[in-house]
Amino acid sequence: CGIVGYLGNRKAAEVIVDGLSKMEYRGYDSAGVAIHNSEELEIRKFKGRLSVLADDLKENKIDGGLGIGHTRWATHGEPSDVNSHPHYNQDKTIAVVHNGIIENYMELKEELEAEGVKLISQTDTEVIAHLVDKYYEGNLLDAVYKTIGRLRGAYALGVVCKDSKNELVAVRKDSPLVAGIGKGENFVASDIPALLKYTRDVYLLENGEVVHMKDENMTIYDSNRNVVDKEIYHVTWDVEAASKGGYDHFMEKEIHEQPKGIKETLERRLDDQGNIKLDSINISKEDLDGINKVYIVACGTAYNAGLLGKYAIEKFVKVPVICDIASEFRYSDPFVDENTLLILVSQSGETADTLAALRDSKAKGARILSITNVVGSSIARESDDVFYTWAGPEIAVASTKAYTTQIISLYMVALDFAIKKGTITEEFYKEMIAKMKELPDKIEEVLSNEEHIKELAKTVSGKEDAFYLGRGVDYNLAMEGSLKLKEISYIHSEAFAAGELKHGTIALIEEGTPVIAIATQEALFEKMVSNMEEVRARGAYVIAIAQNHNTTVEKASDKVIYIPNSDDILSPILAVIPMQLLAYHVSKLRGCDVDKPRNLAKSVTVE
Ligand code: G6P
Repeated sequence: CGIVGYLGNRKAAEVIVDGLSKMEYRGYDSAGVAIHNSEELEIRKFKGRLSVLADDLKENKIDGGLGIGHTRWATHGEPSDVNSHPHYNQDKTIAVVHNGIIENYMELKEELEAEGVKLISQTDTEVIAHLVDKYYEGNLLDAVYKTIGRLRGAYALGVVCKDSKNELVAVRKDSPLVAGIGKGENFVASDIPALLKYTRDVYLLENGEVVHMKDENMTIYDSNRNVVDKEIYHVTWDVEAASKGGYDHFMEKEIHEQPKGIKETLERRLDDQGNIKLDSINISKEDLDGINKVYIVACGTAYNAGLLGKYAIEKFVKVPVICDIASEFRYSDPFVDENTLLILVSQSGETADTLAALRDSKAKGARILSITNVVGSSIARESDDVFYTWAGPEIAVASTKAYTTQIISLYMVALDFAIKKGTITEEFYKEMIAKMKELPDKIEEVLSNEEHIKELAKTVSGKEDAFYLGRGVDYNLAMEGSLKLKEISYIHSEAFAAGELKHGTIALIEEGTPVIAIATQEALFEKMVSNMEEVRARGAYVIAIAQNHNTTVEKASDKVIYIPNSDDILSPILAVIPMQLLAYHVSKLRGCDVDKPRNLAKSVTVE
């Protein structure tokens, strides 16, 4: 979810809707505002995209310079008007927007109900509005402090009250929130892009901090209510005016931006001699000698990138690496201590599960290195060392350019560690860098094949199931290919280690079932060809992805997508491109909302 709050001389409704529009990637199943219209709190909220709210506010304007707004990704309670935020108390004297989860809301709900309060939604947030009301005795800040003393869980809150049309209170605990400083006006938002139209001066709030806006002033307090003297962070970067630049969808644009993203990520870290120079990573040979295990932890697509990172680090640095899903890692009692390096991969740098894994491991003494795309994000700020991917802003929910730049980043880290430790030769190191530098042009070559992939999309778009097969790193890649297809086209798809399919899942192959078979690994090529024959013998329609020179693949497949020849470990970066394009065109043919697939959000800030 995303929240925005405003107090100043502009029309709050307009500022808030504009801010929310920059954060729709955080959820888009409903949206709402509460605006103080000088007499009372006027609340408008609707199920559906932000445009439903924006259209309503265009027709029936609300005047007033104080307000809060919200765009939702449902956790408790289905998307509906009543479950949308802001939530309010019975007399509508208090309104609240919330991002996060209140873990003890059941208990609080029972307590409030026993006191005669009638709750009208199925959300965990509504209890907050009633608690603020319960504790309110003429001082909103007091009431909010008392309320947060009762809450367990993660929350970023914005609170306004009818009695005070020049006052807003906001809180950050485990959910992101920044405060924007204007001239005679102030802002809060879940993310910086929501504020950039109005100000570049922000406070990056820490956990437990409370923002109090009163008239033209804004004060930040810590959890003990001491005033915090915060440093102003001046935002120097620009959010590219989120335009599609001639493409139909952000996803297509972002797929085509991969050569640039990889080039930037790579070449910004190469010195004059062409060696990798990681200024923001302070891990010496001695530090590396003290590290006896590495965990790579992430969610979703970033996890799939992590799997390739595991392969590279084990191969080059010769240390064991465990790659785990953040929400599993936390509760698996991992062997984390001072000799552990934890590598976190996150496009947004705000994913709640990944952030929680960071904090748990830090407390156990692990060294934390993060790979993220967002400068100043929570994960970046709390890590010991940061490697920024230079993908540029990724807007489409389905991740593409973040994934390939994450892989490049992990490979660069692996090569840097390996050369420091002496586990690879200088010659190999140079050769790998040279081959990585060739990738942008090779990706352009794959992209020039888009028409062919568009044709193939027609054979997949009418199906209800699809399978992705691969061996070695191609299996990890199959997982990403399959995820892309299912998340934006809603075709059921699964990825399998090609050799494992025959141990059960092959039962699902029927006449015409599409099987995307990835065969880029030289040493495993013949084995893959046999696996293709196996599924084809059972009726599958096989689309193979192979290197240019491996034309024998044609005898075991119905269609082939060729990629330029490359090193085994680099081929996946080329092979994923046609899979992204395939998913994109299938989704488009099926009339799906490519950039905003159902039920998903780009940045998931709840656990
Ligand atoms: C969400 C997105 C995925 C993304 C995952 C991890 O589920 O829909 O595309 O891979 O979060 O996000 P992160 O920002 O941590 O990479």
